[in-house]
Amino acid sequence: MDQSFNYLISPEISKFRNFSPKLKIVILASGEGSNFQKLIDLSNSNKFDIDIKLLITNNSEAGCLLRAKKSNISYKIIQTSDYDNKEYFEDEIINTIKKNDIELVVMAGWMKIMSSKFVNAFKNKIINIHPSLLPSFKGNKAIKQAITNGSKITGCSVHFVEPEVDSGSLIMQAAFSISDQDNIDSISKKIHLLEHEILPKSISQAGYLIRNGFKGND
Ligand code: GRF
Repeated sequence: MDQSFNYLISPEISKFRNFSPKLKIVILASGEGSNFQKLIDLSNSNKFDIDIKLLITNNSEAGCLLRAKKSNISYKIIQTSDYDNKEYFEDEIINTIKKNDIELVVMAGWMKIMSSKFVNAFKNKIINIHPSLLPSFKGNKAIKQAITNGSKITGCSVHFVEPEVDSGSLIMQAAFSISDQDNIDSISKKIHLLEHEILPKSISQAGYLIRNGFKGND
């Protein structure tokens, strides 16, 4: 982890939980896939007991797809344009996940808002990473929102997914100060570095809770 800036991660999780058999996860991603890559690397180096069963992407041009191909990870492209409506698109994703015997759904840069039907199909088994300190700056362009707001601190959050966008109980957050020299690129870079720290640890924590009968916080 880059030590050139000060940050705070909470809760402090120093080690990954052990999973035997490995925790079966699916990744939903729409973009570059640097978070996905971090998970591939941890899995390949046997530092983290996860089995990335599948990548689902809604973008046939996405960088995450190349990463899956390069690492021999199964993938499926499910694009809205191939379906008559959003419900059929989501149904295809639900069916694909169910067929793959998945324990945890990880949204790692998934740029589609999903319906309650989808969220409830995997209740308490979906997590999402978001580039802000939730509940501030939900939705799109969260980093830009923080800058426009004149925020002095920002960061990223991993949370269980609820039907309401970017809600649900928080698992981990990372925070750092925004300096006068910062801009959208430098902040995005720092956020990515921190996401690569907290997403794997949040998967570890969520997997542990799920294997122990997690039924949510309500
Ligand atoms: C992350 O910043 C995430 O918070 C946001 O999309 C970005 C994904 O980055 N929702 P990458 O595709 O994993 O590089």
